[in-house]
Amino acid sequence: MTLNIAHRGFSGKYPENTMLAFEKASEAHCSGIETDIQLSKDGVPVLIHDETLDRTSNGTGLVKDYTYSELLKLNFGSGQKIPALEDFIAFSKEKNLFINLELKNSIIAYEGIETITLNLLDKYSYPKDKVILSSFNHYSMVNIKALDISYKTGLLYDCWIYEPGNYCRLCRADAMHPQFFSVLNKDIVDNIKLQGFQINTYTVNEAEYMKKLLQLGVDGIITNYPDMLNQIMQ
Ligand code: G3P
Ligand code: MG
Repeated sequence: MTLNIAHRGFSGKYPENTMLAFEKASEAHCSGIETDIQLSKDGVPVLIHDETLDRTSNGTGLVKDYTYSELLKLNFGSGQKIPALEDFIAFSKEKNLFINLELKNSIIAYEGIETITLNLLDKYSYPKDKVILSSFNHYSMVNIKALDISYKTGLLYDCWIYEPGNYCRLCRADAMHPQFFSVLNKDIVDNIKLQGFQINTYTVNEAEYMKKLLQLGVDGIITNYPDMLNQIMQ
């Protein structure tokens, strides 16, 4: 059964990466949630897509220049506060959700973000088969495996990687996480799947492409509209 992964929560209808969007995704019966991790000035992992606050809150400037308590004063839409990763892990464990934690360390290489994230997952004994870490920074994903080989990793990319299955093995990863246009092709999907790796594609918001990817047999679809994907899967 293909995983229905809500991108930044139910971000098609609610403010992205907020507890409201995560709750609504769960109510819409997603199988999992994808979210983005950056670090505050005092090293607290917080959930926000951009390195800067401007697009999604009433704050300005870089997330990394504010302490967690300063970030908590901001409004991320509908009165929502910035979630800490710990809040999200506690919530998702309670709801028995699959989680895709994207480390946002390809623009700012937050030192220690891998260890901080794994330590929190360990603290909550998050089931290893219910979590995958991903990043556009593939060195970081190799680092995760060096820290704890039992955590799953996925390699994010938005280009047409040649022989993606071979590249996945090279990075000791468990999955490829392509922008979906680069895998609308049976040979490319097979190159990954026949070597025993998984494919979770992002960000698929149109019914036409959801159907195509389901036919191609991808393992997970990351979407802003988990409700639409559920309807198509039924
Ligand atoms: O993890 C899938 C997707 O979220 C990657 O791109 O920019 O939406 O974080 P972005
Ligand atoms: Mg993301």
